[in-house]
Amino acid sequence: MLNGPNLRRLGTREPDVYGAASFDDLVALCRDAARHLDLHAEVRQTDDEAEMVRWVHQAADERLPIIINPAAFTHYSYALRDALAQRTAPLIEVHISNPAAREEFRHTSVVAGVATGTIAGFGLMSYVLALQAVAELIAEKKV
Ligand code: DQA
Repeated sequence: MLNGPNLRRLGTREPDVYGAASFDDLVALCRDAARHLDLHAEVRQTDDEAEMVRWVHQAADERLPIIINPAAFTHYSYALRDALAQRTAPLIEVHISNPAAREEFRHTSVVAGVATGTIAGFGLMSYVLALQAVAELIAEKKV
């Protein structure tokens, strides 16, 4: 589960948009939800595009599903899109807020076209829904 720039600042960053829970709360929520679904979730965050691209390559090489909140990279990073296009397992794009209901520049996702699907607008529950989608795809043997 990969998280892009500024997401480590959850809880203090624009709480009216992203809520009061911290990044550590998000990690605990994801690990817990994964455990209940018989999955193991590794949750990472970076502000660095190159590091994010390397993590995506690693997941592709290891044939691992990716749940990614690309944060601002969503809207402009062709490098991240090209990395995600190499995926070898399902890829779920998640957002805490609903970018389609926000500023114009957030209406474009350059990664959505290479994702299996996108879940946005449900707060931290977006991540839990994405884990459920991955568990379902595994059960359907689509991973
Ligand atoms: C976000 C939405 C993006 O537009 C923004 O740049 C973020 C967070 C979300 O989770 O709602 O950093 O991906």
